Amino acid sequence: MEKIIRTERLLLRPLVQSDAEDVFEWVSDPVVNRYLPYSLYKNIPQVEAWIASLKDEENVFAFCLKDTGKVIGSGDVSQNRTDSAYGLGYNLNRAYWGKGYATEAAKAMIQWAYTSLGVRDFTAQHANANPASGNVIRKCGFQFDHYGQCSRFDGSETFEASCYTLHLL
Ligand SMILES: CC(C)(COP(=O)(O)OP(=O)(O)OC[C@H]1O[C@@H](n2cnc3c(N)ncnc32)[C@H](O)[C@@H]1OP(=O)(O)O)[C@@H](O)C(=O)NCCC(=O)NCCS
Repeated sequence: MEKIIRTERLLLRPLVQSDAEDVFEWVSDPVVNRYLPYSLYKNIPQVEAWIASLKDEENVFAFCLKDTGKVIGSGDVSQNRTDSAYGLGYNLNRAYWGKGYATEAAKAMIQWAYTSLGVRDFTAQHANANPASGNVIRKCGFQFDHYGQCSRFDGSETFEASCYTLHLL
């Protein structure tokens, strides 16, 4: 199945090793990382190892600017561990925030999962202290479902979170 998505300004495709330098710009940024589960990356080889570890079914996409090819963010739409719904995630290089790119990419990933995988149920969540992500989620059509928590993988912090669902017919 083709994993290439074109939007007005972006091309979404699987990450490759040569993206590591672009990816490092945001995975090493503590502001981008503030409410994310993973730890800060310290060097490019760590990013290369992450890219090499990605599995096809994780459906991780690089968000590339059509104009320049630069990778400005990444996201994923993959099946949740605990239910059949697909969870949506995204993060973006800080230099490109506030221009609608995350919403453009998130909508495109949902549409791709609907069309290519037949997914009808989606989930998304954001830390309450991270309202920009809440805006992206709502602009994709998600409805608030319940409050919850999200924790960093290393257990160092837990955030109060808002959890959303989207059901497409
Ligand atoms: C969340 C994130 C992906 C948003 O990317 P983006 O491309 O700037 O998002 P968009 O421009 O598509 O939309 C963001 C919306 O939030 C709004 N917004 C931005 N910063 C905000 C803030 N601090 N408080 C409230 N709203 C904010 C924007 O105005 C926009 O809404 P609008 O279109 O109604 O004006 C980006 O901030 C990011 O990478 N954050 C760090 C990683 C992260 O939090 N990922 C999600 C984890 S759940």
